[in-house]
Amino acid sequence: CPSGEGSELRWFLQSCGFVFFFFVLQYAHGDLSYSVQEELKRGSVIGNIAKDLGLEVGSLSVRKARVDMEGNDRQYCGINLRSGDLMVAERIDREEHCGEEPSCVLKFDLLLENPLELHRFLHIQDINDNSPQFKEELINIEIRESADRGARFVIEEAHDADVGQNSVQQYSLKKNDNFILAVDGNTIELVLEKELDREKQQEINLLLTALDGGSPQRSGTVVIHVTVLDANDNAPVFSQAVYKASLPENSPVDTVVVTVSATDADEGVNGDVTYEFGHVTEDVKKIFSIDRKVGEIRVIGAVDYETSTSFEIRVKAKDGLGLSSYAKVIISITDVNDNAPVVNLKSLTNSIPEDTLPGTEVGIINVQDRDSENNRQVRCSIQQNVPFKLVPSIKNYYSLVTTGQLDRELVSDYNITITATDEGSPPLSSSKTVQLSVADINDNPPVFEEQSYSAYVTENNKPGSTLCSVTARDPDWRQNGTVIYSLLPGEVNGAPVSSYLSVNGDTGVIHAVRSFDYEQFRSFKVHVMARDNGSPPLSSNVTVSVFISDVNDNSPQILYPAPEGNSFMTELVPKAAHGGSLVSKVIAVDADSGQNAWLSYHIVKSTDPGLFTIGLHSGEIRTQRDISESDSMKQNLIVAVKDNGQPSLSATCSMYLLISDNLAEVPELKDISYDEKNSKLTSYLIIALVSVSTFFLTFIVIILGVRFCRRRKPRLLFDGAVAIPSAYLPPNYADVDGTGTLRSAYNYDAYLTTGSRTSDFKFLWCIIVFCAFVSFRMSVHFGLNQFFRFFD
Ligand SMILES: *[C@@H]1O[C@H](CO)[C@@H](O)[C@H](O)[C@H]1NC(C)=O
Ligand SMILES: *[C@@H]1O[C@H](CO)[C@@H](O)[C@H](O)[C@H]1NC(C)=O
Ligand SMILES: *[C@@H]1O[C@H](CO)[C@@H](O)[C@H](O)[C@H]1NC(C)=O
Repeated sequence: CPSGEGSELRWFLQSCGFVFFFFVLQYAHGDLSYSVQEELKRGSVIGNIAKDLGLEVGSLSVRKARVDMEGNDRQYCGINLRSGDLMVAERIDREEHCGEEPSCVLKFDLLLENPLELHRFLHIQDINDNSPQFKEELINIEIRESADRGARFVIEEAHDADVGQNSVQQYSLKKNDNFILAVDGNTIELVLEKELDREKQQEINLLLTALDGGSPQRSGTVVIHVTVLDANDNAPVFSQAVYKASLPENSPVDTVVVTVSATDADEGVNGDVTYEFGHVTEDVKKIFSIDRKVGEIRVIGAVDYETSTSFEIRVKAKDGLGLSSYAKVIISITDVNDNAPVVNLKSLTNSIPEDTLPGTEVGIINVQDRDSENNRQVRCSIQQNVPFKLVPSIKNYYSLVTTGQLDRELVSDYNITITATDEGSPPLSSSKTVQLSVADINDNPPVFEEQSYSAYVTENNKPGSTLCSVTARDPDWRQNGTVIYSLLPGEVNGAPVSSYLSVNGDTGVIHAVRSFDYEQFRSFKVHVMARDNGSPPLSSNVTVSVFISDVNDNSPQILYPAPEGNSFMTELVPKAAHGGSLVSKVIAVDADSGQNAWLSYHIVKSTDPGLFTIGLHSGEIRTQRDISESDSMKQNLIVAVKDNGQPSLSATCSMYLLISDNLAEVPELKDISYDEKNSKLTSYLIIALVSVSTFFLTFIVIILGVRFCRRRKPRLLFDGAVAIPSAYLPPNYADVDGTGTLRSAYNYDAYLTTGSRTSDFKFLWCIIVFCAFVSFRMSVHFGLNQFFRFFD
């Protein structure tokens, strides 16, 4: 060791007096061996060479003792020549020189000259100057959470530069939930004691401590950062097991009904939840859809409460790798008033007889509403002002009932509108129209348009001519309203009415059956019945008054004096008659009436015009002036009597006036009658008388003959004329009603036939009367007693 460093050494020794030296002195074959702890401070004394070598301290410097480090630039040791101490000259690091070798020897040469001696050998003792050390401060490891219990994970061991006991002796792992440590020699392993759950703890930090065996003990730690990797160990979990939602029906498409959500504790694709329907019916698929990502269930179709009031849908949540879970979605549909009530006609008595009593049920109506609750509460009504009402019956049934008397003739059919309204909000309603017709009952008799009818006919009408027509109305239906006219039986002047008139059963036209004679009767009444064809029939009757009007068909008839030709009559006019005195009077009548019978008298011709006048209307013949002696004794007047008809008819007569005071003075009464004209007339009369008498005789003979025959064979001739054989009648005669009215024109013919029989007899009687009359007149005029005797 170099000697020039004495002062430094002194300082070194003083300041480090407490340092211990451990060394073993060996002396063998001249070699010195020291053991020195590493890392001693400079100046620390390793040993005393002088003592160890048995030399004088002074001889060291004499012998130029020095330390020569073999093959080393660094001079770790020095010799204090004054004390002979071997001292640390520089820091000695065992690990630097020897690494991990268990024994570390630092070779140096201690040179002594005179004689040259060489001593060497320095053992370096280890001290625990190094801590165990891991390669990194942080160890990252990733472990899948699915790792099984007992899985092992190797951790790189820690190193300690020291050797022996000072090197790493043991490891310890800070207590944790999952891992324990397994050390086998140099192999350190983490052993999974309890399964990991990423979802609980994603990262775990473990503190691993390596301990050496030095004293004091040193340690080194490392943090093991365990990242737990996810495994798809979690199925998605719905937030609710059952989702309930209510949805109004008819909700528009795209309405969100409910959103289901499921969470998956896994991460990444393992936690990527998608939603879908589980097993659902086709209907559900048509109505709802589920959003794969969001879990929104939306409406895609028509939601109809009336079809389905609720849906139960299984919803599936699935994560990326196929773990799935299910939830139930219950969608209850709420009713919306979307169905109008429906009115059904269950039964209907159509054609209600009009005599139906009020309160009769004529129809049954059923009302239905497919909605529910209030929306299906239905009120039913019909319009006012019809004689019907609705009576609620069982449940949704209503009876349609009449409320009043029906009259087909007023209203023959009804359109009844039944309106049904539900109680929803807003309410819906619907209506149905029912057509009801009223059936006819024969409840109306025919009614004549007028209370009575009058027919005016001029006499001498043609048989069959139309007099008038009657009309009756019957408002009933068809045959109940079909009117048939007929004459009611009755008598006019002792003859049945049917011999005067007939009525057309269909038209009501009244015909005359015969020609009327005003002079026979001026008016008569018949009753016409109108009857309908119902069952039973209803009828009414009306009076038809027939007024026959006059025709100027009768000439005035002069009653006095006797008509021309029979004028044997004379009036005596006193000679002293003054002007204006009434001489005679022409008396005439006219069978006609009115103007036709308004007679006027005129003197057509007179022997002495100016002597007599006649009252125009009275027929009184008066002297116009005083009679004078010069006036002819015989005065002859021809008087015409005219009626006032159009044209007027007239008759004439002659009046013989004898101006005399005494009838005896009239010697030539016969002369008066036998003038030229009269004799001619008389001869005619005689001819007529003879022929009439002959005829009359013949007639008497016939009558006698007939009577004689009838006694033996009654009913031969006259009865046959009264009882008309039915074969004689036209075939339709059977159609005649009870009253004897014939349809159409047949009746007229029939009556004509019967009538003509009667007229035969009348004619005969006329002749008889005429003959009697003529005979009478002749007897008056001729005074032929024989003539009367003949008659007697
Ligand atoms: C009833 O309705 C029918 C057809 O809709 C119509 O012809 C008829 O005139 C109506 N009757 C009444 C009384 O309104
Ligand atoms: C006529 O009235 C009767 C009842 O009086 C009835 O039975 C019949 O049906 C009616 N005829 C018609 C055509 O209406
Ligand atoms: C005709 O009608 C009247 C009243 O209308 C009645 O009094 C009379 O009896 C009826 N006559 C016949 C024959 O029906």
